Amino acid sequence: MENVSRDLTAPDGANPLRRLSLEQLRRRTSMKWRTYPPDVLPLWVAEMDIPLARPIADALTDAVALGDTGYPAGTAYAEALAEFAHKRWAWAGLAVERTAIVPDVMLGIVEMLKLVSAPGDPVIVNCPVYPPFYQFVGNLDRTVVEAPLGPDMRIDFTVLDDVFRRAASGASRPVYLLCSPHNPTGTVHTAAELTRVARLAREHGVRVVVDEIHAPIVAAGATFVPFLSVPGGENGLSLMSASKAWNLAGLKAAVAIAGPGAADDLARLPEEVSHGPSHLGIIAHTAALRDGGDWLDALLRGLDDNRRLLAALLTEHLPAVGYTPAQGTFLAWLDCRELGSGDDPAEVFLRRGRVALNSGRPFGTGGEGFVRLNLATSPEVITEAVERMASALR
Ligand SMILES: Cc1ncc(COP(=O)(O)O)c(C=O)c1O
Repeated sequence: MENVSRDLTAPDGANPLRRLSLEQLRRRTSMKWRTYPPDVLPLWVAEMDIPLARPIADALTDAVALGDTGYPAGTAYAEALAEFAHKRWAWAGLAVERTAIVPDVMLGIVEMLKLVSAPGDPVIVNCPVYPPFYQFVGNLDRTVVEAPLGPDMRIDFTVLDDVFRRAASGASRPVYLLCSPHNPTGTVHTAAELTRVARLAREHGVRVVVDEIHAPIVAAGATFVPFLSVPGGENGLSLMSASKAWNLAGLKAAVAIAGPGAADDLARLPEEVSHGPSHLGIIAHTAALRDGGDWLDALLRGLDDNRRLLAALLTEHLPAVGYTPAQGTFLAWLDCRELGSGDDPAEVFLRRGRVALNSGRPFGTGGEGFVRLNLATSPEVITEAVERMASALR
């Protein structure tokens, strides 16, 4: 059996998406690899088929060797994120004193919603959107209100204005839960769009909570803009994490960030929330942001290649599938409505092609007839997945 640790010595410049064999990946015990039987090729949940970046593996190995496995302390994660934000996005406004470490992005969102809204209040989302937005918000007794993206998969400001107006008309404290970059479409919102969001939100008294977990993952030529950096975004609350870009979902930690106008809100975060993040998680995320930049650049180049590959494969094998390579995330949102395989093509691809994709349905209105494919894998796996998808329809 091949030794997985061999891959950890891979140079940072090498494409991490080409390091692990299918045989190695199938030994994993995480959700992506253990939900379906072994004859199914999994390209669904947002885990990446990569070995850990070396600086992260080293930091974790050192911590384990030292028995440094106690409770977390300090602000190293937020400091590393502030430095990363400065370098990558030319944003100098991430103030460590306006941050809090939270267990993960979704639980961070829940805590931010508790700070700025009350049970029954509307939480506006741009569907189709990451399904847990519905689940976590519903479980918190807030009401999800949909403001569908436009046909170009960008924010539709006529719709948003209308939804904001209606949401703000009651005595409630509405919140806009923005996904930036957007999962599943990969839309990277521009500075102009985000500025317009901030203005509209102010006009209608809507608070903005923004999930920026995919921020580091943008295609060549695209620019991520932090919401808190745009004019009018000062009273927003953001959630960031190294977990998507460096595949650290199992090492729990994320950062909640308040703009200057939301500092008082974040200061009300109960102390016990800080008991949730894992010390090893914080060590891993900190190492990723501080020392994982070259590795990230290699990943981004690999994802650019994979987007081009997927487009070519679909043209060849499934020309009826609509696909516009996205500017952000490692996800591909595929329009399968012309395939004639019904509202839930993912079910057909799984049953007949033995390939697991995300059904578009749980992503809310606009998800019917779509599937989400995870591009963070090797070109070989993508090729086989598309061939299996095509065979499912024969
Ligand atoms: C937009 C978005 N938010 C949150 C999450 C989950 O993050 P966490 O595991 O930190 O809660 C994901 C995971 O894929 C995601 O895509």
